[in-house]
Amino acid sequence: MTLAEPRAAGAAAPVLGFDVEQVRKDFPILARTVHDDLPLVYLDSAATSQKPYAVLDAERAYYELHNANVHRGIHVLAEEATALYEATRDKVAAFIGATDRREVVFTKNSTEALNLVAYAMSNAETTGPEADRFRIGPGDEIVITEMEHHSNLVPWQMLARRTGATLRWIGLTDDGRLNLDNLDAVITDRCKVVSMVHQSNILGTINPVERIVARARQVGALTVLDGSQSVPHLPVDVVELGVDFLAFTGHKMCAPTGVGVLWGRGELLEVMPPFLGGGEMIEIVTMEGSTYAPPPHRFEAGTPMISQVVALGAAVDYLNGLGMAAIAAHEHAITAYALDALATVPGLRIIGPPTAQARGGAISFVLTDDEGRGIHPHDVGQILDERGIAVRVGHHCARPVCLRYNVPATTRASFHLYTTTAEVDALVEGLHGVRRFFSR
Ligand code: ALA
Repeated sequence: MTLAEPRAAGAAAPVLGFDVEQVRKDFPILARTVHDDLPLVYLDSAATSQKPYAVLDAERAYYELHNANVHRGIHVLAEEATALYEATRDKVAAFIGATDRREVVFTKNSTEALNLVAYAMSNAETTGPEADRFRIGPGDEIVITEMEHHSNLVPWQMLARRTGATLRWIGLTDDGRLNLDNLDAVITDRCKVVSMVHQSNILGTINPVERIVARARQVGALTVLDGSQSVPHLPVDVVELGVDFLAFTGHKMCAPTGVGVLWGRGELLEVMPPFLGGGEMIEIVTMEGSTYAPPPHRFEAGTPMISQVVALGAAVDYLNGLGMAAIAAHEHAITAYALDALATVPGLRIIGPPTAQARGGAISFVLTDDEGRGIHPHDVGQILDERGIAVRVGHHCARPVCLRYNVPATTRASFHLYTTTAEVDALVEGLHGVRRFFSR
């Protein structure tokens, strides 16, 4: 990959970190047109990222050459498939700074990874004293934030309902940040687990994880981080962050759908009760009962998503080839450019931090016409689509955020390593077109 020359300080155009036009050639879908002959402007990467040839090729090669079940066979294909599957575990461990490959558990997606921890906590009730750290019941508290995706909200509501524990949350400031003024009052010594998003899928906010982890540690609570929107975009190091668990998903980081990761601190996974029971997660099974395999296999019941895991390994290689620091720099520059450009659209209000500081490339906004009347995000999305511009509209699976900011829904543009300033310009031009349409 060609690395661009850094531009001189003060130059008007953003420093992109690498040659984005070159990068785009790796993604076949970005060359297609929509509505007959319009170039695709894909600004919906927070919903799912596009996939480079390297990932598509890896999945195809797996099926063409190596397809077999893993951990079960002694024939050559089974051994090759197992080696490829397990190689991704090494790659993922290194990618997130984990010190032990056994700390990486493959799941279907982030949602399953987060549910795994929540169900393990209620399953502790029927487990031995080794699982005491996970036990939770009436009088105990679970703390999340008001900016969680439903995948890091509903599982904890369900855990509270199953166990009688109480759900509490850290609220939001008017500019889309966590309100940490009363952190010590929200995270008390009754708290058993704090689960929070690293980078919000709707607001774009990057949260001060270390500060919250420090408080959680003071009270002996477990910490869970939803890295769905950060691991694909930033260098993430679990040791530096100090969390106990990290959940993320492959399909937002250039890998296929159907594969995610739960990383957990080794000594915790060692004593954590399982979530799903079935084949390959056991040690000894009789009709009366079973003992369980050590991690990570205890948490990977059934035939896993083998081709997707193999392709996740290719995605990690691809991201490493560009460098996560360069990707983060590119997206930061695009985000700053977009925030400035969107500020020129009359009647546009950003829902989330208005500057690129501690913020990622998911930008939500609402729009009014010349008379100050709201234009519904679904209409915005429809008119943008007619121009070939793909954005997401709605509550983005984070409905409490819309309630907090008193909007029924938002339009969200979201960026990735292949996003260009020209695409942001197309969005801004498209929004002017939307306003013209509604101001007639
Ligand atoms: N969680 C994905 C999004 O934010 C689907 O759009």
